[in-house]
Parts: sequence; structure tokens; C-alpha cells
Amino acid sequence: MSSATPPPSEAIPFDAAEFRAAMRHVPGTVSIVTTGQAPYRHGLTLTAGCSLSAAPPSVLVCVNRSAGAHDTILSSGAFCWNILGVEHLDLALKFSGQDGSKGDIRFADGLWCDLKTGAPSLIGAVCSFDCRVVNAYSESSHTIFTGEVVAQTTRTGCEPLVYVGGSFAALTAL
Ligand SMILES: Cc1cc2nc3c(=O)[nH]c(=O)nc-3n(C[C@H](O)[C@H](O)[C@H](O)COP(=O)(O)O)c2cc1C
Repeated sequence: MSSATPPPSEAIPFDAAEFRAAMRHVPGTVSIVTTGQAPYRHGLTLTAGCSLSAAPPSVLVCVNRSAGAHDTILSSGAFCWNILGVEHLDLALKFSGQDGSKGDIRFADGLWCDLKTGAPSLIGAVCSFDCRVVNAYSESSHTIFTGEVVAQTTRTGCEPLVYVGGSFAALTAL
């Protein structure tokens, strides 16, 4: 066995299409980020979200500036990050605009409630994190919103929905 250090990964020239192709291999947690109050609710399907810190409890979500929800997150200063289960596939499709719906009409499906900020929380989500916006960083086409979690729900025993290889999928235990 050789003790030589393995060579560094070769830098491969790439463009945006190659980057997108590589990112298809990166699994994403499927969520719906919501904001506003009826009849002016907005929401979008989102994988660019994650935990930020535990003290204070905070998360971040990356929202395209062209998304219908974007300006309402800014003006209301609140959003709810709803983590979807496998049974929420239809909602994931609806909130990514695949049926042509926009704005409040998307909320006709699913059961929604208010936690603390008034942003819609999906009843039955794997988790919902109701957040007060702390900062908004503009970065290329997107805004990175950081949010302090002011209320949350969790549901045990459900299977999270993921997105990988251009498809929605379920996780399987090893
Ligand atoms: C699996 C999946 C993940 C997505 N992730 C994001 C995301 O992280 N951020 C984002 O701004 N849009 C994301 N989108 C796109 C939005 O869901 C989509 O553009 C939506 O229609 C925006 O809402 P609007 O139609 O009200 O503008 C994603 C779409 C899909 C299908």
C-alpha cells in the first residue's frame, strides 16, 4: 500500500449548466416557505433552507427575488419554514407553480394555522418553524433571509420528502 498523499481533486473547467448538473446529485429537504395572511398569503416550494444556530434558534432560507412570496417576507418581516413529508408531494408540486396557481389560491389544499407571527403553518408538516426575519442579504438572484424561530411544531413518525436527481423521493433507512 502506498503512503503517498492522494493528489488533490483536479480542477475541472465548468459553467452554470455543469454546476446545475452537479447539484442534481445533492439531496435537498423539501419545504414550503410561507408568508402573509389570508387573503394575501404567499408560499413557495424550497430546498435552499437549513438550520443556522441553536442559540438563538434560527434558520435561513434562500428565496429568488422573482418569487411571489419574496416581497411579502420583506414587508411582513416573517415567514414560516414548513418541512414536508412524503404525503405532501401534491403540495410541493402546487407551491412550485406546476399547476399554474399563484398566491393565496395555493392554500386551498392542505390545512393551515397561525402559530405566532401569522405566517401560515402547515398542519401535519414534519416540522414548522415560525420565524421573525432578522436579516436579509441580497446575493445574485436570491435573498438569504435569516429568521429567529419564535414558535414551532413537530410531528413524529413521518417520512420527510427529499429532492434528488431531479425527482421527489423518500428516504430509506440503511
Ligand atoms: C424541488 C424544488 C426546489 C426549489 N427550491 C427553491 C429554492 O430553494 N428557492 C427558490 O427561490 N425557489 C425554489 N424553487 C422554485 C419555486 O418553488 C418556484 O419558482 C415557485 O413557483 C415560486 O413561487 P411563485 O410562483 O409564487 O413566484 C424550487 C422548486 C422546486 C420544484
